[in-house]
Amino acid sequence: MDWNPITHYQDVAVAERYDRERFTSLTGRAFDALEKAYIAKAFARFPRTSRIVDVPCGTGRIAEVLLDMGFQVDGVDISQPMLYVAQRKLARFGDRFRSVVADVREYGRSMQKRFDVALCARVLMHFPLEEQIEFLRSVALLARKGVVLTQSLSTPYQRSRRRVKRLIGNPPSAAFPITNSGLSTLLDGAGLREVKRLRPNRLVTEEIIVIAEPRA
Ligand SMILES: C[S@@+](CC[C@H](N)C(=O)[O-])C[C@H]1O[C@@H](n2cnc3c(N)ncnc32)[C@H](O)[C@@H]1O
Repeated sequence: MDWNPITHYQDVAVAERYDRERFTSLTGRAFDALEKAYIAKAFARFPRTSRIVDVPCGTGRIAEVLLDMGFQVDGVDISQPMLYVAQRKLARFGDRFRSVVADVREYGRSMQKRFDVALCARVLMHFPLEEQIEFLRSVALLARKGVVLTQSLSTPYQRSRRRVKRLIGNPPSAAFPITNSGLSTLLDGAGLREVKRLRPNRLVTEEIIVIAEPRA
């Protein structure tokens, strides 16, 4: 498979149509709203004075939710075009939103513990497990108190659902959904432990939102 989540989003046209292509159909809007509601629920436990790093920030889709909640957000992404869309969209928040073009694998090492909480949404499922661990470990280095991450959970029900989707010509977007044991390996490898798991609607989406904190 040639598709590469590191290079794909560097294309200006891809960045400009990202929100429209994925989140404006009826189902796209429904999933977007559901995901945002659950992310807000996950972040409700943190004081609004917390400094959040959203990596990868992409077009600022989720950063907007956190800014609306009153947090200060730094958006980090390897793609300048994606961040350019985010800057335009989030300009109304002034200096409560800042953006940095960086590869998290380097940024994590250089900015250790500069933030309270990190968000890592909609990216891990694009990588094989070893690369997910490397990515999440870099994200975890950034945050003192915890990480909120999203992944696609692979259960027997979700595997059957994927087979049906493929049969009707609607392939699932997550290339590397994770099993429960894979999730433990991922969190262990990133130096994290699971505190709470949210599942928006297990019948219609395989997405899970995990709140994790650094291992003592
Ligand atoms: C599917 S988008 C998700 C964006 C956003 N979190 C959301 O939920 O809409 C994945 C993003 O990961 C970014 N990305 C991929 N590899 C990265 C890396 N090593 N460091 C920083 N960003 C990366 C891409 O540029 C892209 O913007």
